[in-house]
Amino acid sequence: MKYSGLKNKVAIITGAGEGIGYSMVTALIEAGAKVVLNDLDVKVAQAAAANLGKDNPDNCLAFAGDAGDVATINKMVDFTLEHFGRVDFVVPNAGMTLFGDFFDFKPEDFHRVINLNLQGAFFLVQRAAKEMIKQGSGGKIVLMSSQVGIRAYRHLTAYGMTKAALRMMAINLAYELGNLGININVVSPGATLTERTALEQPDYEGIWAKVNPNGRVGKPEDIAKTCLFLLSDEAKHINGQTIAVDGGWTTAGKYPEDLEQET
Ligand SMILES: NC(=O)c1ccc[n+]([C@@H]2O[C@H](COP(=O)([O-])OP(=O)(O)OC[C@H]3O[C@@H](n4cnc5c(N)ncnc54)[C@H](O)[C@@H]3O)[C@@H](O)[C@H]2O)c1
Repeated sequence: MKYSGLKNKVAIITGAGEGIGYSMVTALIEAGAKVVLNDLDVKVAQAAAANLGKDNPDNCLAFAGDAGDVATINKMVDFTLEHFGRVDFVVPNAGMTLFGDFFDFKPEDFHRVINLNLQGAFFLVQRAAKEMIKQGSGGKIVLMSSQVGIRAYRHLTAYGMTKAALRMMAINLAYELGNLGININVVSPGATLTERTALEQPDYEGIWAKVNPNGRVGKPEDIAKTCLFLLSDEAKHINGQTIAVDGGWTTAGKYPEDLEQET
């Protein structure tokens, strides 16, 4: 099925030089949208935009910079307006997964996680929503949470806190922006095979396929397709919701005997 309401729409996707964000841009370009593709790494951003915009370079523009920095966010939205004249969709996808023992976690690391995962999302949505309101034709926002924001995982307290907060951000803003024609929803991926996770854990795919009831690891396209749906007209009555895309990973309740079998 092809979703409607995507063609010629203008999207900003952060952290999109590779991984889940790259897949999202791929899906949007295929659907006929125009995209500003952000990445921290200028070469990665330019290479990704050149690759995804090869059939129509004007439809996919790179914007390099830190998606957690408010001045950069404002420049990125200005850049989008200058080149495309409007902004209809935003996905603050860039996020930092920083593992660390709670007792050793340093304030500077805590602030790095908060700056990207929360400040970046909050202020991109704030600025983009102002533009959407001026344009008068609504807009769609998808926040990128994680199943780590729903259940507890070792050494991920700070990361998990930010991902849980994004769900609350969507709940609040659904209420605040809904009557202005702006919908905001959340996608919550489970373990997803990206360039980064493949590097972090040898045999990531094999290990996580065993953990998921579906018997497969999450792929960036799984997340991208869910985002595409949430950005489309078909999802216009969905607002403030979180959709888990985790192959059923976090549905599993455990009996004491399950724990014995695992040890
Ligand atoms: N991969 C997973 O298993 C998984 C699971 C749950 C949630 N998520 C969330 O999905 C999102 C994307 O995850 P991913 O694994 O595809 O990302 P990733 O870590 O692979 O990063 C994707 C891109 O983001 C860029 N980036 C990093 N810091 C940036 C910054 N400050 N500003 C702009 N760009 C930056 C990187 O250069 C990279 O090209 C994140 O918010 C992550 O927390 C991922």
